[in-house]
Amino acid sequence: MDNIVLCGFMGSGKTVVGKELAKILGVKFVDTDELIEKEQGVAIKAIFAIHGEDYFRDLEYEVCKKIPEMKGVVVSTGGGAMTFERNVEAVKQGSKIVFLDASFDVICERIGDNTTRPLFQDREKAKKLYDERKEKYLSAADFVINGDMGARKTAMQIADIFR
Ligand code: S3P
Repeated sequence: MDNIVLCGFMGSGKTVVGKELAKILGVKFVDTDELIEKEQGVAIKAIFAIHGEDYFRDLEYEVCKKIPEMKGVVVSTGGGAMTFERNVEAVKQGSKIVFLDASFDVICERIGDNTTRPLFQDREKAKKLYDERKEKYLSAADFVINGDMGARKTAMQIADIFR
């Protein structure tokens, strides 16, 4: 099986759907943000605060380059990852990219008042970013799935594509 790389905006369900999907398919689940945090020994929020976004993006690129070495896994990427061409190119080999297309309203409901995301501190700014990124997710994706549904249902739909 190709790796399944989930992309989409913050709060689109990449992690929760990814874990569910990996369970359904009986394969390993990998989260790029988690890999970065493990390697760096600090939370993403701290990386942004201490070193800035560009530094984080370089770490993200390094992790994306490792994805083709993994075989048959489900990967959840950070919300910005697949908006960068170099990352899309890096993961493409041996992977299919799935865009979880969730509406901004649903995303806001899911995120609520959680302030751990450096790029979701302000709802208006986040909406602007959401609009800017949409085209990029669409052009990176091999498949587009409605991200407004519950995780189980979404994961089942994706699993049906790959089984
Ligand atoms: C980011 C999304 C975050 C994390 C970082 C940057 C983004 O991941 O990678 O804060 O640029 O949208 P989630 O999508 O898992 O929140």
